[in-house]
Parts: sequence; C-alpha cells; structure tokens
Amino acid sequence: MISAIWGAEALNRKGNLNTQGPFLRVMTTHTPVLPGEVLDALQPRPAGVYIDGTLGAGGHSQLILHAAGSGSRLLGLDADPDALARAAERLASFGERAVLVNSNFANLGEMAQEYSFIPCDGILLDLGLSSMQLTDGERGFSFQQDGPLDMRFDPTQPETAADLLNNLPEQELANLIYTYGEEHQSRRIARAIVQARPLRTTRQLADLIARVTGRGRQGIHPATRTFQALRIAVNEELQVLEQVLPQALHCLKPGGRLAVISFHSLEDRIVKNFFQQEARDCICPPEQPICTCDHHSTLTIVTRRPIQPTDEEVNRNPRSRSAKLRVAERLPDYLETNLG
Ligand SMILES: C[S@@+](CC[C@H](N)C(=O)[O-])C[C@H]1O[C@@H](n2cnc3c(N)ncnc32)[C@H](O)[C@@H]1O
Repeated sequence: MISAIWGAEALNRKGNLNTQGPFLRVMTTHTPVLPGEVLDALQPRPAGVYIDGTLGAGGHSQLILHAAGSGSRLLGLDADPDALARAAERLASFGERAVLVNSNFANLGEMAQEYSFIPCDGILLDLGLSSMQLTDGERGFSFQQDGPLDMRFDPTQPETAADLLNNLPEQELANLIYTYGEEHQSRRIARAIVQARPLRTTRQLADLIARVTGRGRQGIHPATRTFQALRIAVNEELQVLEQVLPQALHCLKPGGRLAVISFHSLEDRIVKNFFQQEARDCICPPEQPICTCDHHSTLTIVTRRPIQPTDEEVNRNPRSRSAKLRVAERLPDYLETNLG
C-alpha cells in the first residue's frame, strides 16, 4: 500500500531529519554493498528505466542514476518511511528522475504499472535492513542497543516482535527460531522465553538468550540467530521475496537485468532456486518421462556463482561480509520468438 509518495524535491514537506538528542547515536548513513558489481550487473545507460525495490538510504539508486546519466529514471520503493525521507534528501539533485514511493516491494508490479516503469531495464533488490535501522535502538533490530522489541520495517504493520514473543505457543516459537534462525538451541530458547513472559526490550531478550545458551561460537553473540528469525518472521521476509521475484521478471524488458543481494542462506536459496527454475524449459519432476508442464525459460543466469565482496570491501565495510549478489537477464518472450 502506498502511504506517501515524494518526488525527490519534496523532502521539506516531511521536515529535516532529526539528528539531535536520542537519535545522535543512530548511524546517519549506509554504505552500499558491492557498488561496482551492481553497476556492472545493471549496466545503467542514458534514458534507462530502473527500479530499486529496497531504496534504504538511496546509495545504490544514486549510483545507478549517476551512471545512467541523462533521461534515465528510477522508481525507488521502501517499506520504511524514514528510509524514504533520507533517500529523498540524497536523491534531491535528480529531481523528477527519482520517484520514491513508500511501499512494500511485494507490490512492485503494481507500483511499476502505476508509475509507468514497465518495461524497465534493470531492477535491484538489496535485501534486509540498513545500518540506520540496525543502529537505531528504537527500531528494536539490534541486541546491542536497548529498545522496544519492534523489528518492523513498516511501522504501520500491526504485529511486532514483542507480539510474536509474548503470544506464540512455545512449540511455534521454537519452530520459528529454528526455521528462520537455523538456531539449534531453539527449543531451549523458546522454553526460556515462555517462562520469562512478558518480554518488552531487546536487552531483556538478548540477556535471556545469553543466560540459557552460554557463550556464542566464533565471537558471534548467542542472540544473533534468534534476532534474525524474529525479524524475518515479523516482516514476512521470505514470503515477500517469493512474491516479488516473478513480478520483477515480468516488469523487465528482454535483455533487462534483475540483481538481488542477499545476506543469509534462506534468502539466497530462494533467489537461486527461482533463477534456476526460470532458466529451464521444463520444470516437470525428473522422474516424469514426458514433459507436461509447458514451461519455457524466461531468463538466463548471468552469475553462475554468487558474487561476493572482496577482502578490501569487507575491511572497508564489514556489513558487506555476508553479501551475495545474483544476477539474471530477461529473455525475449517465448511466444514472440517462436510464433511470430
Ligand atoms: C539493505 S537496505 C538498502 C540499502 C540501499 N541499497 C542503499 O544503498 O542505501 C534495505 C532496505 O530495504 C527495505 N526493505 C526491506 N524489506 C522490504 C520490503 N519487503 N519492501 C520494501 N522495502 C523493504 C528496508 O526498510 C531497508 O531500508
């Protein structure tokens, strides 16, 4: 759902960003990961049409618009209105060329249609959360900052992490932590959470997990996986990723490219499987002797293996450490190519 649309020049309607008082500790910028690799993938060009489904601070969008040059346009989506305000400031110099919409990327097809961004030349999804969201304790994403157990990208969405933690039955909570966090101590953690309810703050949860699981392995905080699991569940991250991929493909013109950066194996697996399936002419089960699926490949995979940051990038921007970039290129429509 759209709750606001701002041309890049309209930041003043929202007012200046608050960098005073309690927000002082919040990181005011986000360094885009794999910047050169994203530009290599999308090959921005003059008059090109692009969609950034995860605008964040607008870092990648700025690079794309700058590299594409005159006449190019970009539609930027973000579920978080604060991110949109920052990006609007950063992209202000591009004027009408940047159209920023407060929307979940699950609506990418609808938004692209509404703002005349179909067909487009390139789409970027840089999944997960930004440095600003992570370091703002009030958003509840981090076990290193105390704050409410929120974790919503979209603050108008009804369910917070606290709602899940305080209401789910123990078994469901354990399954959630196991499935989305790949946490082997999920049952023990879920039991402790249920006994300690109600939980209100990130510090309470992080301390509880540390108490019941002991020290983390390899310097990783023991609450890392549980926090990841809750964030994925609150924002339905895997479901919306599955929804957006076919929409993105549909929006691209033949030869247009889709670039997806993921930060954990659950996301990367969804992207990899989608690309592999769409690159095949038949998706019947292997044991079936005759093809009945009538499926035709819609894309070609550009990156056989995911692109990962160099050591130099990881040193400069440690947040890029687990990034994986996969790129695919839209094929011409089967019917157009083969029947006329
Ligand atoms: C990693 S940051 C993007 C950073 C951006 N590429 C940059 O260079 O500044 C991810 C952003 O995507 C947003 N986001 C995550 N899931 C989303 C979704 N399903 N729909 C829309 N925005 C989403 C988050 O709010 C966050 O601002």
